[in-house]
Order: sequence, then structure tokens, then C-alpha cells
Amino acid sequence: MSTPNKEIVVSGIRSTGNLHLGNYFGALRKFVSIQDDYDCNFFIADLHALTTNPDPDQLHANTKSILAEYLAAGLDPEKSTIFIQSDVPEISEMYLLLNMHVGIGELMRTTSFKDKARKALGIGAPPEGESDEAFEKEIIGATTNKRVNAGLLTYPTLMAVDILIQKASKVPVGKDQLQHLELTRRFARRFNSFYGVDFFPEPTDFEFGGAPVKVPGLDGSGKMGKSEGNCIYLVDEPKVLRKKVMRAVTDEGPQAPNSPMSEPIANLFSLLELTSKPEIVTSFREAYADCSIRYGDLKKQLAEDILAITTPIRERVADILADEDYLASVVRRGAERARERASKTLSEMRHIMGIRKF
Ligand code: TRP
Repeated sequence: MSTPNKEIVVSGIRSTGNLHLGNYFGALRKFVSIQDDYDCNFFIADLHALTTNPDPDQLHANTKSILAEYLAAGLDPEKSTIFIQSDVPEISEMYLLLNMHVGIGELMRTTSFKDKARKALGIGAPPEGESDEAFEKEIIGATTNKRVNAGLLTYPTLMAVDILIQKASKVPVGKDQLQHLELTRRFARRFNSFYGVDFFPEPTDFEFGGAPVKVPGLDGSGKMGKSEGNCIYLVDEPKVLRKKVMRAVTDEGPQAPNSPMSEPIANLFSLLELTSKPEIVTSFREAYADCSIRYGDLKKQLAEDILAITTPIRERVADILADEDYLASVVRRGAERARERASKTLSEMRHIMGIRKF
């Protein structure tokens, strides 16, 4: 809540699907833990989701389910400002203003833009040593039915606005978002120096301390991610969840005592470490070391321990989704609070830029 002496934290998540264990351990659980100590602002980035042109009904359904999942996992509207990005129209206006100081070149060089633009054009991974020039030609030459929309290009502007409009100083984000945060700092600096003001603070990554949490997928390699199709969702029914875990990729088992672990097995242990008691992890590690491990047992244990975490959340999600009035009141209140600071920032920004009342 807007308490003057607490540091301002902003973080958002795009509404593109249900939340998975990676979102939970990598973000949500940490958000829950800082609610008392920071002025927390957590939102659902439905405008960002529009950059990939979702089906309208799907977009609304996703926004709603992520909101319910946020609340079910412990984000508390009494402590944090929880809102929907599009409920704060000041964000859209500031996005227009900030874009006047953002270069299309720097946007085009953003890694996430390149990835997404390639996806939109269906041109796959970059050929080894490909120059930016070739990539730019592809984009400019794209025909009207295959195009890279301007919203995708200006995604970092919108994200910078989310952060700067609240004058946040700390932004919890994953590694893949650090480049966007760097751009946010650059835009803040640029605005300040262009107008000779000390207006926007430069936000930094929220450091939670400790080793970064690794949440691998079930397909043997890489992290859990929506686009990878290797996810366990918080709302997966027990039957579905157990089946997914039992089907996780493994290997033929340790062939000699104290063998090194293959990646798929190390990944299962990473998940077990996040969800099980230390003594359980230790006993499976010992079983691996002396070759007595049975992966089926490991998976059964893992599935039950994951369920112990997700079941209460899944049940609360169902209750919350059924209570339309509650959901509406949460977002109404969140928008009101988010707009307080947003409208102040915007009107000062307009004034600084020379848009002034007669
Ligand atoms: N781009 C972020 C992601 O995909 C989501 C996001 C939008 C965000 N606006 C933000 C995160 C502002 C932190 C702060 O994960």
C-alpha cells in the first residue's frame, strides 16, 4: 500500500495462460514473502498479452484465472496493490509519451523482440552469424498477412511505463527480463537528462538473495515454460499432475555406484528439492548413489509432494473464480490505488514535456 517510507516494488505477468510451478517458485512465492516490507504493486499485463493477438474471450479468461491464482497463492489485496494493467488508462497515455524518446533501433536490437519477430514471421532460429541487416530486411519486407506488429516492437516501452509510472525502485523479474529492465533505466535517464529534471528513479532488479531458483521442465532439459509444453500447472487436477510426473523423461538408471547424474535425473532432483522434505531428498540421493533407486518411486513421491503444495491453491482458485463480486472488488480497489500514483506521474510528465493547460 502507498506507505511513504517503503520502497516501491512493481512486477507484472502477461496473461497468456495458467501459472505453472516455474511461476510459483520463481516469482509468486517470492512476491508473497515481501508484501509486508515493501510497497508492492503486482499486476496482470493484459496489454502486453495483446502483442501476440490473443482471442478476445481467451484473453479475458486468462486474465481472470491469473488473478485468481495470484490471490489463491497468497497475494493479499489488503497488503499489496493488485490490478489489471488495462484498468489504468494512464499507462496507455504515458506509453505514447515515452515512445517519443525511444529509438526503433534500440527496440529492434532487443533479444526478446528478435525472438518474437522471428516467431511471427515463421523464420525460426537465426542462422549462425546472421547480421542485423538481414533481419531488418526480413521485417521491412514482411507482407501484410505475415507481419511484426508495432506493439511487439514497443513492448519494452510499455514495460518501462509500468515501472516508471509507479516510480518503482525495485523490480523482481526473471533473467529473460533483465534486458528490458536495463532499457527502462536507460529511458528514465534519457528523459531526466533531456528535460533537465530529476523525475524518474532508475529501477533495479529485486535481489532476493540466495541461489537463483531453478525450476526445470519434465522433458529432460531446460526450464519449465509455457511455450516449452513441459509444465505442471498450479491448477492441474491430481490425475493429470500424477500422469505428467510419471511420464517425465528419465534414463536407464545409474550403472555404477556414485555415477554422475544425467540432466533429466538432475532435473527431477531439482524439483524434489523444491517440494520435498530434506530427509526425503537425501534418501533418494543415497539410493541413486548406491544404485538402488527406482525412478518410479522417486516420481510417485515427487507427484505427491507437488500436490501437497498445489492442492490448497487449486481449491482456493476454484472458490475465488466462483466469486465474481469478490474478483471485481479486488480489481476495482487495485485500479483505484494504482491510478493514484499513475495519474500524478502522468500529469507531471505531461507538464514537463510541455503539454500544459491554457
Ligand atoms: N515482460 C514481463 C514478462 O514477460 C511482464 C511485465 C510486463 C513486467 N510489465 C512488467 C514485469 C513490469 C515487471 C515489471 O515476464
